Amino acid sequence: MSARKITVVGAGHVGETCAQRLAEKELAREIVLIDIVEGIPQGKALDQWESAPIEGFDSRIIGSNDYEEAAGSDIFVVTAGIARKPGMSRDDLLKTNAGIVESVSREIQRVAPDSIVIVVSNPLDVMAYVALQTTGFPRERVIGMAGVLDTARFRSFIAMEVDVSVEDIQALVLGGHGDTMVPLVSYTTVSGIPLTQLLSREKIDALIERTRKGGAEIVAHLKTGSAYYAPSAAAVQMVEAIVKDKRRVLPCAAFLQGEYGQEGIYLGVPCKLGEGGLLEILEVELTEAEREALGHSADAVRSTMAALEG
Ligand code: NAI
Ligand code: 2OP
Repeated sequence: MSARKITVVGAGHVGETCAQRLAEKELAREIVLIDIVEGIPQGKALDQWESAPIEGFDSRIIGSNDYEEAAGSDIFVVTAGIARKPGMSRDDLLKTNAGIVESVSREIQRVAPDSIVIVVSNPLDVMAYVALQTTGFPRERVIGMAGVLDTARFRSFIAMEVDVSVEDIQALVLGGHGDTMVPLVSYTTVSGIPLTQLLSREKIDALIERTRKGGAEIVAHLKTGSAYYAPSAAAVQMVEAIVKDKRRVLPCAAFLQGEYGQEGIYLGVPCKLGEGGLLEILEVELTEAEREALGHSADAVRSTMAALEG
């Protein structure tokens, strides 16, 4: 199963890696990479396509500055924007990226009004809202990527600490994509064994703290940009769930209309993804402390939204 055409907007670190992963998994017949900088998407797409005979994929990758090339795409992955630099918070990116996501969303609405949009640009929860508002698409077709990444970070840290396969770790990180994200310890297991039976509360708290600061940890190492290998893998996992109608339950940023007691904002919650995009938001039981933490995270998203409007 694969899509006819998938477009990645933004041919920077996350976008180029997404395009390569999409092609290697043959998730679409055609993969379009778009950027505003002339030559960059063309050069990267051609270079990637030239790896096809070696890697053995038949997804054609085309680079362009023109949205006509993206016309009729089934899915867009929006990575356009500026990335975090050291000392810069995700919210510092707010106004610049809002303008970029708005202009990209207008083009998506024009050339592919029936498409599904996966937003990656930061600050994620608010950029997803900008895309929803600008495209006028239903919430089923505008979904934000953050929870899959944050959960993968949590899982990778747990795997190192417990010294087991990452594949055996199930976890769920909800909330906004920022320091207030909410890793749910009550839903974290190693092959069904509650994490609390394997690690002390102190160790678990340290892993949660590292997860919350996971993005900043990479920025501190790289100095000139932010993470892209795990983020692109996360976005592509969402695409795959949709293209193959897998009905996977993944933590994604969805526009809430009363779920988890929240209304009118994007927040990371467990989502069922399949053909058509967001099929369902699953409302799971939370402890009092988790519910409170999710409310606190929602407040942080709301204050970023207010900063954008102010
Ligand atoms: P990057 O700087 O490497 O690439 C961004 C690309 O967007 C550049 O090539 C730039 O020319 C392009 N661009 C700027 N304005 C554009 C426009 N109007 N139309 C088309 N392209 C445009 O940045 P990187 O590392 O790829 O990150 C991209 C975005 O994703 C950033 O906002 C970053 O913060 C965010 N991000 C979000 C994550 C998440 O979990 N949601 C994880 C990692 C990154
Ligand atoms: C991250 O979490 C920068 O949001 C990006 O790596």
